[in-house]
Amino acid sequence: MASFNTKTFIKHDDYMTPFNAWDNIKQFIPKDKVIWECFYGDGKSGNHLSTLGFNVIHKPVDFFKHNLGDIIVTNPPFSKSKIVMDRLYELDKPFILIFPSSKINTSYFRKWKDKNIQIIIPRKRIQFIKKINGVIPTNYKSMCNFDCFYYCYKMNLDKDITWLNTTTKKTTKKTTKIIFKKI
Ligand SMILES: C[S@@+](CC[C@H](N)C(=O)[O-])C[C@H]1O[C@@H](n2cnc3c(N)ncnc32)[C@H](O)[C@@H]1O
Repeated sequence: MASFNTKTFIKHDDYMTPFNAWDNIKQFIPKDKVIWECFYGDGKSGNHLSTLGFNVIHKPVDFFKHNLGDIIVTNPPFSKSKIVMDRLYELDKPFILIFPSSKINTSYFRKWKDKNIQIIIPRKRIQFIKKINGVIPTNYKSMCNFDCFYYCYKMNLDKDITWLNTTTKKTTKKTTKIIFKKI
């Protein structure tokens, strides 16, 4: 029977962003700004953004006590959604935030209604990388059972809703199919 419990997601916030989640939206992030990936996790998210050519600040500091960089690009702890959104409201700086799509229905999101939040909708569900005490559990396979958007603020995107058409995979193998025609 189908269950509506997200049993794997209730205990903690250590779900790391895979490289392709940033790769898929790199065209929307300006290269001439300093990015603050403000939730450190295992540190790899910042590395991914650096690999993609961005100038990134990514260090293990308390988000609520710092204000770094020009633009926030991050995947925050979902258990702290309300206070994260409140802090972003206070900071009033541009951001791209990976957040469950359902968050737009929350009362705390209502106060953003006149702030022109823009949304990027991924082509496929983002599969986060779970860590327990810094380690990926043995035989772990990501089975995230909810959808996320990229919530954007002051990013001046062309459209308020951008539907991504493509997604990059972890590994891409090129195969060439040769078709022989009978003549
Ligand atoms: C969903 S994880 C994502 C980590 C990383 N941003 C990524 O995308 O891979 C969120 C992380 O935020 C960390 N965190 C929780 N509260 C924080 C705070 N006040 N300041 C900085 N990091 C915090 C948690 O430890 C958790 O590892």
